Amino acid sequence: ASFLCERDRRFVLETLLNGLQRMEYRGYDSAGLEIEGDDPNEPYIFKEVGKVSMLKEKCMTAPIDMDKSYVSQTSIAHTRWATHGVPSTTNCHPHMSDPTKEFTVVHNGIITNYKELRLVLEKRGFKFQTDTDTEVAAVLAKYLYDSQKGKQISFTALIKSVIMELEGAFAFVFKSIHYPDEVVVARRGSPVLIGVKTEKKLKVDFVDVEFAGAADADKALEESAAPGAANGLLGVPGPANPQGGKLVRSQSRAFLSDDGMPQPIEFFIASDASAIVEHTKRVLYLEDDDIAHIAEGEFHIHRLRKNDGTVSTIRAIETLEIELAAIMKGSFDHFMQKEIYEQPESVVNTMRGRVNFDTHTITLGGLKAYLHVIRRCRRLVFVACGTSYHSCLATRSIFEELTEIPVSVELASDFLDRKTPIFRDDVCIFVSQSGETADTILAMRYCLERGALNVGVVNVVGSTISRESHCGIHVNAGPEIGVASTKAYTSQYIALVMMAIQLSEDRLSMTARRNSIIDGLHELPGQIRAILQHDSEFQAIAPMLAKQTSLLIMGRGYQHATCLEAALKIKELSYLHSEGILAGELKHGPLALIDESMPVILVMTQDSIYPKVRSALEQVTARKGAPIIIANDTDPSFDDGRHRVIRVPRTVDCLQGILNIIPLQLLSYHVAIARGCNVDMPRNLAKSVTVE
Ligand code: G6P
Repeated sequence: ASFLCERDRRFVLETLLNGLQRMEYRGYDSAGLEIEGDDPNEPYIFKEVGKVSMLKEKCMTAPIDMDKSYVSQTSIAHTRWATHGVPSTTNCHPHMSDPTKEFTVVHNGIITNYKELRLVLEKRGFKFQTDTDTEVAAVLAKYLYDSQKGKQISFTALIKSVIMELEGAFAFVFKSIHYPDEVVVARRGSPVLIGVKTEKKLKVDFVDVEFAGAADADKALEESAAPGAANGLLGVPGPANPQGGKLVRSQSRAFLSDDGMPQPIEFFIASDASAIVEHTKRVLYLEDDDIAHIAEGEFHIHRLRKNDGTVSTIRAIETLEIELAAIMKGSFDHFMQKEIYEQPESVVNTMRGRVNFDTHTITLGGLKAYLHVIRRCRRLVFVACGTSYHSCLATRSIFEELTEIPVSVELASDFLDRKTPIFRDDVCIFVSQSGETADTILAMRYCLERGALNVGVVNVVGSTISRESHCGIHVNAGPEIGVASTKAYTSQYIALVMMAIQLSEDRLSMTARRNSIIDGLHELPGQIRAILQHDSEFQAIAPMLAKQTSLLIMGRGYQHATCLEAALKIKELSYLHSEGILAGELKHGPLALIDESMPVILVMTQDSIYPKVRSALEQVTARKGAPIIIANDTDPSFDDGRHRVIRVPRTVDCLQGILNIIPLQLLSYHVAIARGCNVDMPRNLAKSVTVE
């Protein structure tokens, strides 16, 4: 927040802490903030692991003068959900350029080339204090500032040169003791908005803030920018600049008072509106490669590169219509619903920085050092519980096909009960959203004792499994709050498919297969989005299912896992008995359950075993069953109106389960609502089962 009006420290702290509490649903492993100090070169920084309330306690009991007020001040705060480095006060934001703390930054997102940058900066004598990707941004700012000594570079130009070096997704807020009361905000890939609060009439009446494409400004900035910044200043191959390294400035002077004098004005910067809506509803959303500069009550937007026509030159001030409670969950009624709807983005986050769709290559940094060991292993043993177990089942077949290594998939509790034989040349893969599931952790320690290589596939960075495994993959689905796992499942699924692809990259005979899967991964976000648009159709089916006492969900091959996962969703959310059945086993028992009154869902998307699933359909219909069918939109069957059909786009066989589960997640959600169940917190269940 940036204030140009008299505010005391208590007010500023409360504003920041309340904002953080509103954002807590996004992640909650640690939080930190920076406020003005008594000495302008010594800001106060507070950090605490755990909930924001812990940070609040720390700040409010700190021996500082709460009544000290400033006419102009800028403060930053952050709540963290770790993607790099365990949750700790050291890894908590704000991050600084140590030891002189001249630059401070908070960051949402991932800097994918931070390791390379860090290495280069370390060679130039900089010391790093944390395991985070973010720290590199603060240190880089300090390095570039020092290399400009005496040349009077503007804060915006400096941060531009920092951003030019970074790859990945981010929203940043930068502060510096060299630029008191200034703040620079930069965005690429991660959302950030700026709220404005002022009581005076505005000269630019909060209409569109339009850029002037000023050639002079271009020139001025080119001169003031860090020389060489765009040419990969650090020798690290940075993001290519299509304009050959020319920094371009466009700006707009908004928010001046009638008399042109500074007026009381407050700016609130946040990654979502929930943090600021209690202060103002007038917000402006930044676009990718926008760099916003706030100083002395003025607000300017700059562009990183010359506009090639693909980005609008208009940033409109919007007036938020929604109330705080609604914003917390977005426009959703429940976290589970929100998480289902986040999947077009969460699957991208899982792939970000790892999949190169042009060269058809996959690089999982966390496995790099162990790839040769994994390729030579005797067996891949997957161990997990609940939904995470289903993601292993869903991808077992693609591991077998691509790697030709024998695979077993184990439920952690059963794996331990059986004291399963494990050997030094086994590779054991522990899949867990939380990374804290007791059974999975115990199984991991059991394998460690037997000398196997342990690979963790977890969503929560810094969790026990992520710390105690030898290597692994963070699935990066973002925090999952609903007890029933949804977006973590699709992200685990993708993480495992990526792993199978990378393990097989030395097998030339599999190149075409790998390429087609990678092309399939590319299409997924759009296809998920398309399915979500049909939600009202799934909702319409729910009341009928909600009245039942039992539901069978059948499929085979890749879709067996989909059936198990869908049945789990239905039973845990709706308390309705539901069973996932392997269609190949139908005639060995389950067929006896079928009559005209037994509700059945049959997953029959098109793959190599489609004819066998058709035969299951015939077996069911011959017993007067009337299944709801999940079919591809490319399949001309079932248009005769005799069956109720849910259509999904077609993708590569081994990815089809990702698309098929989406309507079933939504269906389970709507059935639970129709039965009046607590969707986010089903009875008797916990998000992380930390006891055996
Ligand atoms: C609990 C949750 C499930 C989850 C399972 C495994 O039962 O309710 O949603 O799938 O634990 O959790 P993990 O964190 O290890 O994936």
